[in-house]
Amino acid sequence: MKLAVLKESRAGETRVAATPETVKKLKGLGLDVAVQSGAGEKAQFFDNDYTAAGAIVSPDKATLLRDADIVLKVRGPEADETAAMKKGAVYASLLAPYSEKDAIAKLAAQGVNAFAMEFIPRISRAQAMDVLSSQANLAGYKAVIDACAQFGRAFPMMMTAAGTIAPARVFIMGVGVAGLQAIATARRLGAIVTATDVRPATKEQVVSLGASFVAVEDEEFKQAETAAGYAKPMSAEYQAKQAALTAEHIKKQDIVITTALIPGRKAPVLVTEEMIKTMKPGSVIVDLAAEQGGNTPLTKPDEVVTVHGVTIMGYTNLPARLASDTSSLYARNLFNFVQLIVDKKTGALALNWDDEIVKGAGVTRDGEIVHPSLKG
Ligand code: NAI
Repeated sequence: MKLAVLKESRAGETRVAATPETVKKLKGLGLDVAVQSGAGEKAQFFDNDYTAAGAIVSPDKATLLRDADIVLKVRGPEADETAAMKKGAVYASLLAPYSEKDAIAKLAAQGVNAFAMEFIPRISRAQAMDVLSSQANLAGYKAVIDACAQFGRAFPMMMTAAGTIAPARVFIMGVGVAGLQAIATARRLGAIVTATDVRPATKEQVVSLGASFVAVEDEEFKQAETAAGYAKPMSAEYQAKQAALTAEHIKKQDIVITTALIPGRKAPVLVTEEMIKTMKPGSVIVDLAAEQGGNTPLTKPDEVVTVHGVTIMGYTNLPARLASDTSSLYARNLFNFVQLIVDKKTGALALNWDDEIVKGAGVTRDGEIVHPSLKG
């Protein structure tokens, strides 16, 4: 059985879906692995390394796709790629399923069985395939490092012969995977860190990382987590209370990292223009929700802008700014998924649609769009 790893074509996408390490492991499953030339270059994995790991490296994408039983990528396929895949092939990547519906319709029409890695269920057995976590973790780290590089002052308190420098105040809004890593990183750099979220479970996590929790803890807050562990959209009343609290707190902050997301919806606006006006000149906001509309109304996707003296960084793909590490983790996530869908004895495709993980991540099957959240 043949597996192909394609080179990414989207602007700014530097990651790759397999590394020489995972190529070796995929070969260990009995698969023939082919990698498109230059696929790993931007992540510092070179064609020679893939060849040494046992892959065929080829510039001929059309042939790779025509022969492949499994196709791996980081981002969704281009139309020409989908058109070149064979019926019954498996395709796995991040698919941005709520926004890239056209690409999913094309995959279904082509008869490809496509899997959106964003939809891997967040259950213990699937943790090693959880791309949202592996990528968000490094994005949270990088957000703090980006803010730190932009900020014209130091993070830690410094006591010098010439006087004392006050520590930076960092506020993390949204304490999911990215937010938790942002807290840990900002703490390691010596900042005074506060954090907020609408999910009550985060309070203990924030405190355990040495930060303080700031939130409107009313009855609605106590119910704000879905069974799947995500945030619910909050009522207008809650949002008004949250905004009043944020407005008071944010005035005193130097760095604000926003990561608040609700799956399948536009990101909530947590920092208004009025709040930004009250921030100190030279403060920095890193908006990790930029791709989903941003947690501030002034965020410009993929731009760094300075408004009212505050710099707002709107990178939409922070994981791509750490491509070597994020690729290594993403490639291992994908390998673990492939391992689940290949029969280890025969090396043949063994898609068990009754498996919670296969069913959870599957978006197209035998010509149909099958994921419940994408139907109708
Ligand atoms: P996410 O990327 O969907 O959202 C980021 C954060 O924004 C969340 O913590 C969310 O509660 C928060 N948020 C949403 N609206 C907000 C608002 N109005 N104000 C403030 N904060 C707001 O979340 P992520 O990082 O994907 O994690 C979601 C959940 O999944 C968490 O409970 C996490 O612990 C859990 N998880 C479970 C795993 C497992 O069991 N295998 C693995 C990874 C995460």
